[in-house]
Amino acid sequence: MKILLTGGAGYIGSHTAIELMNAGYEIVICDDFSNSKPESIKRIKKISGKEFPFYEIDVADKPALEEVFEKENIGAVIHFAGYKAVGESVAKPVSYYRNNLDTTLTLLETMQKYGVKNLIFSSSATVYGAPDEVPIKETAVVGRCTNPYGWTKYMIERILESVCVSDKTFSAVLLRYFNPVGAHISGLIGEDPQGIPNNLMPYISQVAVGKLKEVGVFGNDYPTKDGTGVRDYIHVVDLAKGHVAAVKYIENNDGLEVFNLGTSVGYSVLDMIHAFEEANGIKIPYRITDRRPGDIAECFADASKAKEKLGWQAELGIVDMCRDTWRWQKNNPNGYSE
Ligand code: UFG
Repeated sequence: MKILLTGGAGYIGSHTAIELMNAGYEIVICDDFSNSKPESIKRIKKISGKEFPFYEIDVADKPALEEVFEKENIGAVIHFAGYKAVGESVAKPVSYYRNNLDTTLTLLETMQKYGVKNLIFSSSATVYGAPDEVPIKETAVVGRCTNPYGWTKYMIERILESVCVSDKTFSAVLLRYFNPVGAHISGLIGEDPQGIPNNLMPYISQVAVGKLKEVGVFGNDYPTKDGTGVRDYIHVVDLAKGHVAAVKYIENNDGLEVFNLGTSVGYSVLDMIHAFEEANGIKIPYRITDRRPGDIAECFADASKAKEKLGWQAELGIVDMCRDTWRWQKNNPNGYSE
């Protein structure tokens, strides 16, 4: 089956492209490079040793997207394309709602036109907001989002739910990612944030490479083991393999299904800093600062449903996450830019 990856040049898309090809799937990528670089496509080809069709298009550009469906015999779509910065979404809500919803609706209209009924969507643990309890199960309450980015994920989930109600032969899998970190073992692809990173792991690695002075630890008075925020960090290669498992699932099932993709283990900010230091033999200076508005104390998955129904579970641990992040960062101090 040929699989279209929207936003396939991005961090999670690029790693998924490789795992899909490793598993024998044919892929097609489209991306407008609004938050990624053409170099990433070259590197996917280098790592996999395979060629695949690539289209530089905006998914919301309907004629351009239709041309892709016209030319390629798409069997399933993994929809990664979307804006993803929490802080930016608060500053530019209209642009986030416009982009993330438009791309999805255009994609769905095009899939309907061409009779493509298999879709995997990049959702996020952000739809749970501040959870009532951890670990978080898929049945937990959703829709307590604290920013427009999270709301777009929540809204798209509801749109896909409605599509599955209207068409019993449509198959949609919502993958709720926890905190993706790490990079491909080759050190050729990885996370390439624009400007100063918002997320913890890229921030740590930019301190390690000397681009930033110290990590600001956003609060040490949370009700957690050491007072710093606890998250479920998952290696991006494990996450990518979760998509391969979802593709296999979707080939055999109709209707809507939702899976947490996490490790079920929570690490604190200080755990991550110390693990990075130990795995790579580098000192990471840090300073405790105020809490970041909107942050929650603790968020980690109950990932047992994915294990049971997809036959998938995360295999890589915190040492792999820290080691692979650093290999990518030190080999590519400026990301994909020369
Ligand atoms: N943190 C710091 N310093 C930093 C950056 C982060 O102390 O410089 C802390 C945060 O306070 C938090 C933890 O590190 O406790 C993780 O923060 P990230 O920004 O890396 O990740 P978040 O959990 O805040 O958000 C991530 C994704 C979102 C997604 C969410 C889902 O970035 O897209 O997980 O739970 F919505």
